[in-house]
Amino acid sequence: MSDSRRAIVLAVGGGIAAYKSAIVCSRLVQCGHEVRVVMTRSALKFVGVSTFSALSGRRVATETFDPEQNPLGAHIELAEGCDLMIVAPATANLMSRFALGSADDLVSTLYLQISSPVLLAPAMSESMWGKPAVQRNVNRLREDGCHFIGPSSGWLSCRASGEGRMSEPNEILEAAEALFN
Ligand SMILES: Cc1cc2nc3c(=O)[nH]c(=O)nc-3n(C[C@H](O)[C@H](O)[C@H](O)COP(=O)(O)O)c2cc1C
Repeated sequence: MSDSRRAIVLAVGGGIAAYKSAIVCSRLVQCGHEVRVVMTRSALKFVGVSTFSALSGRRVATETFDPEQNPLGAHIELAEGCDLMIVAPATANLMSRFALGSADDLVSTLYLQISSPVLLAPAMSESMWGKPAVQRNVNRLREDGCHFIGPSSGWLSCRASGEGRMSEPNEILEAAEALFN
């Protein structure tokens, strides 16, 4: 891998903004990066595996126990040599599990396994984002060394404007590149 080519895990959570993560995936690939996509089961309700496997040119991982992945575990294989983990959208649920140290699905297990920087792009309704429990988890994750991009204010899928909109793909890419530099 050349100096500028990175191995990036793109973890997709179960929120409407998952469709924007397809653009993040495509742009990262166009920048020459290797993109390893992991999706939660909820994410599969919003966007299909085929979109991400076609865009990344790689198999998409969704299950902790996957006979077609490395027998040591998909989380081991995916974390190996990874330069950055991007979580987009970072749901309230994912952040809660990360903050707690849960390892009850592939994405949360991978979060614990990975030693690279982690960049979170939260997305949720303004009510969810404003909840003390969510803010507690965000603060805990910052203390744990996670990086955040957004959320921004704007139009939300609950048909209201407010804070909680996932950052745009170009902003996520810029934040990722800033971490490499
Ligand atoms: C239509 C719809 C949209 C949702 N959008 C969001 C969202 O933007 N952010 C969020 O945190 N949860 C959202 N949720 C709730 C999550 O899907 C739910 O908490 C789920 O358990 C998240 O799982 P995951 O974190 O494993 O992906 C949404 C649910 C539905 C039905």
